[in-house]
Amino acid sequence: MFNKQTLRDFELKGKKVLLRVDFNVPLNSNLQITNDKRIRETLPTLRYLMEHGAKIIIVSHLGRPDGKVKPEFSLKPVAEKLRELLKMPIILTDDVGDSDTFKYVRGMKEGDIVMMENVRFDPGEEANDTDFAKKLASLADIYCNDAFGTMHRAHASTTKVAEYLPSCAGLLVEKELKVLGSALEEPKRPFVVLIGGAKVKDKIGLISRLIEVADVVMIGGAMAYTFLRAEGHNVGKSIIEKDKLTLARLLIEKAKKQNVKLVLPVDHVVTAEFSFSAEFVITSTKKFPKAGMGMDIGPKTVNLFSHYIHKAKTVFWNGPLGVSEFQRFAKGTNEVAEAVASSKAFTIIGGGDSAKSIEQLNLQTKINHVSTGGGAALKLIEGVSLPGLQAISEKL
Ligand code: 3PG
Repeated sequence: MFNKQTLRDFELKGKKVLLRVDFNVPLNSNLQITNDKRIRETLPTLRYLMEHGAKIIIVSHLGRPDGKVKPEFSLKPVAEKLRELLKMPIILTDDVGDSDTFKYVRGMKEGDIVMMENVRFDPGEEANDTDFAKKLASLADIYCNDAFGTMHRAHASTTKVAEYLPSCAGLLVEKELKVLGSALEEPKRPFVVLIGGAKVKDKIGLISRLIEVADVVMIGGAMAYTFLRAEGHNVGKSIIEKDKLTLARLLIEKAKKQNVKLVLPVDHVVTAEFSFSAEFVITSTKKFPKAGMGMDIGPKTVNLFSHYIHKAKTVFWNGPLGVSEFQRFAKGTNEVAEAVASSKAFTIIGGGDSAKSIEQLNLQTKINHVSTGGGAALKLIEGVSLPGLQAISEKL
């Protein structure tokens, strides 16, 4: 799967490397970083470049400032965190590839790092604009993409710029592709998959693809109700996607044909209303109350899912199993997270909210691979080609 050029294919000494990273990290209302995983995961690439005498020009986005300069989306907190992690001075320029950037890039020495302001402050970024890409390219000798989390976006700094410079993947991109790729191509079996989240429509392609490669596919979260309804169960007032019922039936059929065990929740935490403080009852699927709404998987489902997780040799998990943003309804997700963490299988978390749950529970060191990409990881697994990856030159 991985046949792209990497940093190791280049002579880096004295070369200016335009390094696209994904430092799109969560910030609180005081603009403090609440999770620095994406920054820490880029350190091996940064250290490799420094050790090999490159001059590093960092490009990243943060949030969605819509092509305008908005101070709340400044990369200042990120630059500060990077200084702290690398224990060295790092310049953050005032602009994106204009005079301030040029001024600092001109004076760079081997091992120096200059970071440009948020690349999405320029409308040319998301427009995948040729002139903007050329401007970025003119700063450097080599383009390196280590922004795995942004590989599914066709933007100037993730795709177009690669047309104007020799290109390669960074060490994080290489690691993500190798782990996610080998899990799909040659998983140790049983390969058990756990998919949660709100909407079937967001995960159809993923579930369909995983049915082709996994032995057991377990479904939780709000979308499980569409599958339960498709199987003919009463799910009370739980939100279902009526227009996806046929598709859910087709996926159930596909699993049967492929001899894949599709496991749905057998009990539920049910409330009368959608509220963080609502009183709840626990009920089986068979006795689902007509006026009830499913908010979380119940204890029997936690046991059932944990049973398959403990029998697995490979586990892939993406998406919360209940309304996990409400603490009261995060129990199912948290207990399954513990099961994944204590499993002897090779465990992979497909980014997004499930990665957040694992980190909130401080279980990340017990997981083999927590992906830095939410959307990108899912697209990759689904088999959709990633523009950022396509843009990088193949190995010679
Ligand atoms: C992400 O967090 O998924 C990536 O950084 C991409 O961000 P985006 O969804 O705003 O393009």
